[in-house]
Amino acid sequence: MTIQWDTSLSVGVDSIDDDHKKLLNIINAFGSDDEKSREELTVLIDELLDYTRYHFEREEEMMAENGYYQLEEHKQEHGQFIKKLMELGIMLDTEDVEQTRKETSQFLSMWLSRHIRWSDMNYVSCLILADKAKAQA
Ligand code: FEO
Repeated sequence: MTIQWDTSLSVGVDSIDDDHKKLLNIINAFGSDDEKSREELTVLIDELLDYTRYHFEREEEMMAENGYYQLEEHKQEHGQFIKKLMELGIMLDTEDVEQTRKETSQFLSMWLSRHIRWSDMNYVSCLILADKAKAQA
């Protein structure tokens, strides 16, 4: 399973869109048809964990700086995703590689597209509205 980035996934902030594109590229590598070894998938999980942490920190700083009212809920979603990534990393060590790759690909693709469309769109809309209100004050 792979997902192509399109404008329906744009939150309207270039730096955040660029992060999401990078995350989707890594996630799509799990869903590509090429067969991958356990070691290759472990490298991908580590890369995804690193970039996800970087991206989540960036978003959380933006939300905190702007006093976003659902910061804690959003941070919880981020924390659950990181936890799941770590669990998938452990599964890769112990479970069937192909089965784990398929489950990982499906989970990651669905989680990220849903999170962008609902949670990220919501905070960015709030920040844009707050900026407009400040500009008019
Ligand atoms: Fe773009 Fe809340 O992750």
